[in-house]
Amino acid sequence: MAKTQSVRASLDKQPHEVASMFDGVARRYDLTNTVLTAGQDRYWRWMTRKAVAPRPGEQILDLGAGTGVSTVELGRTGAWCVAADFSQGMLAAGQSRGLPMVAGDATALPFADNSFDAVTISFALRNIADYDLALREMLRVTKPGGRLVICEFSTPVIPVFKTAYRTFVMKVLPMIARVVSSNPDAYVYLAESIRDWPNQRRLGRRVAEAGWAGVKWRNLTGGVVALHRGYKLGS
Ligand SMILES: C[S@@+](CC[C@H](N)C(=O)[O-])C[C@H]1O[C@@H](n2cnc3c(N)ncnc32)[C@H](O)[C@@H]1O
Repeated sequence: MAKTQSVRASLDKQPHEVASMFDGVARRYDLTNTVLTAGQDRYWRWMTRKAVAPRPGEQILDLGAGTGVSTVELGRTGAWCVAADFSQGMLAAGQSRGLPMVAGDATALPFADNSFDAVTISFALRNIADYDLALREMLRVTKPGGRLVICEFSTPVIPVFKTAYRTFVMKVLPMIARVVSSNPDAYVYLAESIRDWPNQRRLGRRVAEAGWAGVKWRNLTGGVVALHRGYKLGS
C-alpha cells in the first residue's frame, strides 16, 4: 500500500509540524485508530458522550475533532455539534460526514465568549504545546455553568499492566502502524507523547489551574485513557 507522507512532530509540538503530521495520517486515520486500539476507541467515545451528556438544542464544541469521528458520536443525542481542528487534511478526510466543521487553532479559538453549553476534546490536548492556554480558551468560549470533558491517554493504574502497556505503546504500536497507517512515523510521535503526558492527578491540577471548577476524573480501560471533567462557574 502506498504511503502518502512521512512527517512526524517532535515533543516540542510546533503547531505547523503537528498540523502537517495529522494531514499525513488523515487518509486512514479512523481505520488505524480502530486497529491500534482493538476497537476500544468506540467504547472511549461512547463514555465521552455519556460524560458530556449533550441534550437536544444544546451547542457543543468538539475541539481537535480531526475527521469528526468523535463529533459524530456526540451528535447522536440531537445536540448541535461543531467539529474544530487546525489540520485541513483531517477536516477534509471527514467532510463526507456532513458535520459543521471549523478550521481553527485551539489556542486562539474563532468563537465568541460564552458560546457553548459544553466543550470536549478527545485525544488532542496532548498534541498542543501550550495546553494551559487551550484550557483557558475552552473556558472562555463555554457558557457559565457549561461543562468540559477531556478524553485523553493517561497512566495505567495496575503496576503489572503498566509495564506491558508501556512495551505495547513504545514497540508494538509503531510496528502495527507501519502496516496500517498512511503516515507510520506519526505513531512513533504518538508513543512518545503518551509517555511524556502528565498522569491523571497532574492533569487534573492543570485543568483546575486554568479556571475550571469541580475537576474530577475517571479511568477507562485501567487508566489507559482518563476522562477529566469540570464546569465553568456562574449561571
Ligand atoms: C489524535 S487526533 C484526535 C481526533 C479526534 N478527536 C478523535 O477522537 O479521534 C488529534 C487532533 O488534534 C488536532 N490538533 C492538534 N493541535 C491542535 C490545535 N492547536 N488546534 C486545533 N487542533 C489541533 C490535530 O490536527 C488532530 O486532528
